[in-house]
Amino acid sequence: MNIRSTLLASAVTFLPVTAMAQELTIGFSQIGSESGWRAAETTVTRQEAENRGIDLKFADAQQKQENQISALRSFIAQGVDAILIAPVVATGWDEVLEEASDAEIPVILLDRTVDASDDLYLTAVTSDLVHEGSVAGQWLVDTVDGGDCRIVELQGTTGSSPAIDRKTGFENAIEGHDNLEIVRSQTGDFTRSQGKVVMESFLKAEGGENICALYAHNDDMAVGAIQAIREAGLQPGTDILIVAIDAVPDAHLAIANGEMNATIELTPNMAGPALDALEAYLADGTAPPKWIQTESRLYTAADDNQAIYEVKKGLGY
Ligand code: AHR
Repeated sequence: MNIRSTLLASAVTFLPVTAMAQELTIGFSQIGSESGWRAAETTVTRQEAENRGIDLKFADAQQKQENQISALRSFIAQGVDAILIAPVVATGWDEVLEEASDAEIPVILLDRTVDASDDLYLTAVTSDLVHEGSVAGQWLVDTVDGGDCRIVELQGTTGSSPAIDRKTGFENAIEGHDNLEIVRSQTGDFTRSQGKVVMESFLKAEGGENICALYAHNDDMAVGAIQAIREAGLQPGTDILIVAIDAVPDAHLAIANGEMNATIELTPNMAGPALDALEAYLADGTAPPKWIQTESRLYTAADDNQAIYEVKKGLGY
């Protein structure tokens, strides 16, 4: 089920646990460490838990859904008070979420959505992933201002909600602008190394001079692609426009250096709103909305990216 339909309120089936006075034990199933953004989310989640006196049981799934399902089953067997999960892909969660529901353990989704009934989780804390793609697309529409532009796209992990939704949002934004065309689109799995490898193949297949812009579903892939563009003897950010998503420190640095043009911020602080909602729910049964939306903000060369880099570089990215 799409996150938008989660706004159609449905009854929360979890029973409040009287655990507020004592220490909470929460399981966190993290995807892995594919990107700088992911590292920051892990850091912030650990900090938020520590600040609240929560015993956080952390499980790194190393990008595999089966590891996440095992971690959830282990958390359920341990009788944790709640589970946080950043789901690597959108499908295949019904059974394990049913098991958590049967055990009356509330589950909160972090940063990605799932195709499952919203009865099966307490809330999802995410950005509007379609909107992020639209902002990137609209930025490009405005920047090329009617000029012809052949675009290459680096997609995130296949089957993940950000890869699906960021693609949709971007395509929606450029629809009807016949001067803009996506000529190549392939997954770079949200990693810097794959971003570089796939960009190299785009450059080889198309010829760098025939590529006007790169849209990457995250900054890490864009940073890898920047290296490939440089090695091809082209000037990233000038010969090839680059727009991506996350606003990690290295993207701000690349914009400050003129090697990237725009990024859309995704806050790594999903755990703060998630734990606020959980604590209220456990205290008196207050049901949070099914979607807690985080903000998305566009950064371009008009911002003081060097200063933002200096602030962000120590924040766990
Ligand atoms: O789900 C959020 C995405 O996952 C981030 O944009 C990306 O960097 C990460 O891997």
